[in-house]
Amino acid sequence: MNFSEIVREVLAEHAVGPERPTPASLARCLASEADRYLERVRFDPHHYVRHPVLLWEDWEVMVIGWEAGQITPIHDHRGVLGGMVILSGTVVEERFTVPKELPQLADSRVRPEGDLSETGPTVLHRLMPRSRSVSLHIYRPPLRTMGIWDPREGFQEIRASTFEVGDEVLARAVAARTTAAPVA
Ligand SMILES: [Fe+2]
Repeated sequence: MNFSEIVREVLAEHAVGPERPTPASLARCLASEADRYLERVRFDPHHYVRHPVLLWEDWEVMVIGWEAGQITPIHDHRGVLGGMVILSGTVVEERFTVPKELPQLADSRVRPEGDLSETGPTVLHRLMPRSRSVSLHIYRPPLRTMGIWDPREGFQEIRASTFEVGDEVLARAVAARTTAAPVA
């Protein structure tokens, strides 16, 4: 099975469970699966690299490869619910309120490897990797657009959420099978 099929299976399993899955609860479950694909994640010295994993009816799963300092714009998710897990490295997340139509810093958090961030539908935030990092993102429904904000001029535009690489990099990849060391 490739990575996309594994993710699809995990989502389908959880959809029939006793508790409705959230992007954050699924992000936690999928982090260990995603770990196996870390060595395939691509980086670019000019921009963080968004990798598609699964774009489904209700869900979107994506992985981002970051170099240190590749900051996102301040953005909202247009009402979409999200969950993020840091798979490697350290990312700072800043969250904002909008008291007078301008973003105002409300919270700044250092998120090390393994940390989980739940992004509600009204979250306004930006991410700043401190080192080379990889993060796993899950959205419901799929995140197809984002609202872009400027710290001094407020809301700027609605921008399409795009991918920097094709789905052959992660979604269609099959991880090398890890075999347990023989017990002596
Ligand atoms: Fe975001």
